[in-house]
Amino acid sequence: MEIPKIKTENTNLEIVNSNAKYNLYIETYGCQMNVNDSEIVVSILQKENYKTTENISEADLILINTCSIRDNAEQRIKSRLFIFKKEKKRKPGLIIGVIGCMAERLKHKLLEEEKLIDLVVGPDAYRDLPKLLQQINGGQKAINVLLSQEETYAEISPVRYATNGVSAFISIMRGCDNMCSYCVVPFTRGRERSRDVNSILREAGELVDNNFKEITLLGQNVDKYNFTDEFGTNYNFSNLLKIVAENYPNTRIRFSTSYPQDMTDEVLTIMASHSNVCKHIHLPIQSGSSKILELMKRGYSREWYLHRIDAIKRIIPDCSITTDIICGFCDETDHDHNETLSAMNLANYDYAFMFKYSERPNTYAQRKLNDNVPEHIKTERLTEVIALQQILSNKNNSAKVGKIYEVLIESVSKKSINDFMGRSSQNITIVFPRKNYNIGDFVNVKIIKNTSATLIGEIIDNS
Ligand code: SAH
Ligand code: SF4
Ligand code: F3S
Repeated sequence: MEIPKIKTENTNLEIVNSNAKYNLYIETYGCQMNVNDSEIVVSILQKENYKTTENISEADLILINTCSIRDNAEQRIKSRLFIFKKEKKRKPGLIIGVIGCMAERLKHKLLEEEKLIDLVVGPDAYRDLPKLLQQINGGQKAINVLLSQEETYAEISPVRYATNGVSAFISIMRGCDNMCSYCVVPFTRGRERSRDVNSILREAGELVDNNFKEITLLGQNVDKYNFTDEFGTNYNFSNLLKIVAENYPNTRIRFSTSYPQDMTDEVLTIMASHSNVCKHIHLPIQSGSSKILELMKRGYSREWYLHRIDAIKRIIPDCSITTDIICGFCDETDHDHNETLSAMNLANYDYAFMFKYSERPNTYAQRKLNDNVPEHIKTERLTEVIALQQILSNKNNSAKVGKIYEVLIESVSKKSINDFMGRSSQNITIVFPRKNYNIGDFVNVKIIKNTSATLIGEIIDNS
């Protein structure tokens, strides 16, 4: 199977296609796995005579690939649906479909509440899309929200319809068995399953053949990757990482997300010994308080987490570390909150995604715990966490001034067409004048300035 040819002269690429009859407008929310799922959906629909469009008014089919992780994610999607429904009033033949996590969470309710929606499809049912679309053309509504224990879309080559032509995602597993008490993902994505190692290597090979320079291996908890092939050979995540890195030595390999309980020294050692495995670990802490971590059912304590941070710093001294933090979880006191702030200082994160706790229907926390931190305290704590992270990020960025990093050029800078934007192995974003280089080149960049939001650098020519 082939990845369709893509145009490479700008950053917002379309598939060079085709005489496809129908136009698909697809919008994606949520995590990187959803981005990759949309690429799988486009691949499935391409065979049904659909091509992508970026123009809603041209669409025959609008799909919104949704996220349920927090209430505000769902609210944002509802307001987009409002716009799509208006479009349908103007153009009655238009099909509107809700796919992904919100489709899985709300199921039939979505069709009952939103009369102008025609189609609801959960994350494990995308292969059924052609049949469901036929059903709609026959005048019915269509829904498939069955979760699967096996589906990994292993042999489907995602269509990289919105790519920069440089970086791509490969999902190595689906679902999550962790059941953190606040989290909706185990309900929307189903049971954990790992994809065949051979299909991962095949997809990586296709990307390399098509000039991609960076591959990110995706899973909700990549450290639980576990696949046994037909000869009985078992592969864990460190085995997989090693094989991918050694098969494609000129390609950067990233991965996300690591889980503190399961991240082994073996994985860290593979990272340290393979120069093409990027020196960046996203290791969500969620809270720095052992009491809260227990209520969250995360399976590790503050001490365990901080030991993992020590292991990263010992085994990969130049590794950057980023995290996710939830503020105001059930029963969180000022003391617990201060424990989070102190853990942030100890870990010295380069970057963090920070959220207010949002209670999700049917989770353990919703059923058994009390969402008892008042909204204004959640806001206060989040503000404090963000302010501390800004100080840490700023300090860490300032320490980079004067240093030289190998940077993969990803795109033209949003602010100036004379500049490029790229990332170092540590995932730091750097903006620098273009000189005579191209998107997809690796260049050495010296950091000359740290503005509050961006690192500015200049290319150090090898010649
Ligand atoms: N599998 C990854 C995270 C996936 S969800 C992991 O376990 O690390 C991404 C982030 O969303 C989580 O790390 C968490 O910080 C946040 N999140 C998940 N559920 C949430 C909720 N109910 N309220 C607020 N933030 C939440
Ligand atoms: Fe959610 Fe926990 Fe699974 Fe991450 S590991 S997706 S937070 S249940
Ligand atoms: Fe959201 Fe589903 Fe990802 S809930 S974060 S899109 S797995």
